[in-house]
Amino acid sequence: MARHSLCILLCLFGFSSQKSTFDDTSYVAAVVEYEVRANSSLNLQNYVQLIRDAAKENADIVVFPEMTLTVRDHVVVPINGLLKDYPVPALQPNLYDEVLVSISSAAKENQIYVVVNVEEIVDCTSGDVAGESCPEQKVYLYNTNVVLDRGGAVIDRYRKINLFGESTRKPGSLSDLGIFETDFGVKFGHFICFDLMFQVPAIQIVQKYNITDIVFSTMWFSELPYLTAVQIQEAYAFSMNVNFLGAGANNVRVGSAGSGIYSGKAGALVSIIPGVSTTKLLVARVPKVPGQVNETVPGPIYNSPTEQDNLYLLTDPSLVSHTTRLLTPGNQQFILTDNDVSCYFRVRLSERSGSNTYRYRAGAFSGVRTYSGFTTGGIRVCSVFACTNDTLQSCGQR
Ligand SMILES: *[C@@H]1O[C@H](CO)[C@@H](O)[C@H](O)[C@H]1NC(C)=O
Ligand SMILES: *[C@@H]1O[C@H](CO)[C@@H](O)[C@H](O)[C@H]1NC(C)=O
Ligand SMILES: *[C@@H]1O[C@H](CO)[C@@H](O)[C@H](O)[C@H]1NC(C)=O
Ligand SMILES: *[C@@H]1O[C@H](CO)[C@@H](O)[C@H](O)[C@H]1NC(C)=O
Repeated sequence: MARHSLCILLCLFGFSSQKSTFDDTSYVAAVVEYEVRANSSLNLQNYVQLIRDAAKENADIVVFPEMTLTVRDHVVVPINGLLKDYPVPALQPNLYDEVLVSISSAAKENQIYVVVNVEEIVDCTSGDVAGESCPEQKVYLYNTNVVLDRGGAVIDRYRKINLFGESTRKPGSLSDLGIFETDFGVKFGHFICFDLMFQVPAIQIVQKYNITDIVFSTMWFSELPYLTAVQIQEAYAFSMNVNFLGAGANNVRVGSAGSGIYSGKAGALVSIIPGVSTTKLLVARVPKVPGQVNETVPGPIYNSPTEQDNLYLLTDPSLVSHTTRLLTPGNQQFILTDNDVSCYFRVRLSERSGSNTYRYRAGAFSGVRTYSGFTTGGIRVCSVFACTNDTLQSCGQR
């Protein structure tokens, strides 16, 4: 009892630098919204500082975004093969790329789990990929998450399966999912950006391996009305009922931004989708049972609407092909059918005064859409979305 009160006292005064343990009911997570620089050395220097900052806030794990560490032809040399005998790059600086050595040292010095994403180069004449068709250059490039533990050891790597454009890279194997365990009693699944849209890995990793905590590195291109970055991160966490640590690359001019820590049905513990160039460390205490949040949390951090205007947003190209109906103030019920999808709506829309307000449409759609011209995918939706005037063409815009 006395010990318990002491802990409460120390915690209240922000005194403890306690690592979470196997028996604790929660842990501390950090994610980084990171504005990428063209200079890889500068990114590395910034990452090391952010790892220190996360540790100072007692984070057990810190997650970085997709493709914001090694940029412009800086690829990380093979980590396969070496790992079994020399898992700690900090202790073998002559064997590993300087990037991995520095990140490993930072994880070790600060006693924190670190997840980074790099471009990985693999000699395809040997090792675990030998035998597959090997291109002329004798190397494969992968989009790879690397996970390091508190001792700086590489404990897992995952290669992105669902590439988005990325024509120089090779997709990872469908049977090679990213999973790692921690000393604070949480088993994580991890995947990368566009992967979130697919059965493998995004659904399978939760359902087949009983994973309750997901690590997500991304460089998302936000799209209205269904796929803005924080929206889809929170939606995934909610629908899968998992904790979700999402770290997004920040490049607002091309539409990339958005990071957060979410807990199942409780939504965002903290999130940000800035309209201005930003590097920001987000930290939250995460309950091991998703959704079981007992303390007040920061929740979503919003920009001013004017700042938000700077974030470039795409619009879903299939929206104009939806079967829709404009909602009117008051009660309404109706069915919309589009190909093999029928949606039943029962809506009460409150009256809003003023001309500068959104209109709302109900929509049904079943069909194929394109993603930035790179690829296509089937979707089925029943939805209500905002429009700036009475026309369907004005929907999915701010
Ligand atoms: C890249 O960043 C490093 C570390 O901050 C700095 O020393 C170097 O001068 C930078 N290089 C260029 C070309 O700006
Ligand atoms: C997942 O949980 C179910 C039900 O508790 C159990 O039967 C199954 O063995 C678990 N699977 C794994 C891979 O842990
Ligand atoms: C939240 O409160 C419930 C009920 O008191 C408790 O069982 C649970 O351990 C608490 N969760 C956390 C993360 O502290
Ligand atoms: C409605 O909005 C669309 C898209 O912004 C615009 O092109 C169109 O002119 C507007 N129509 C009316 C009637 O205001």
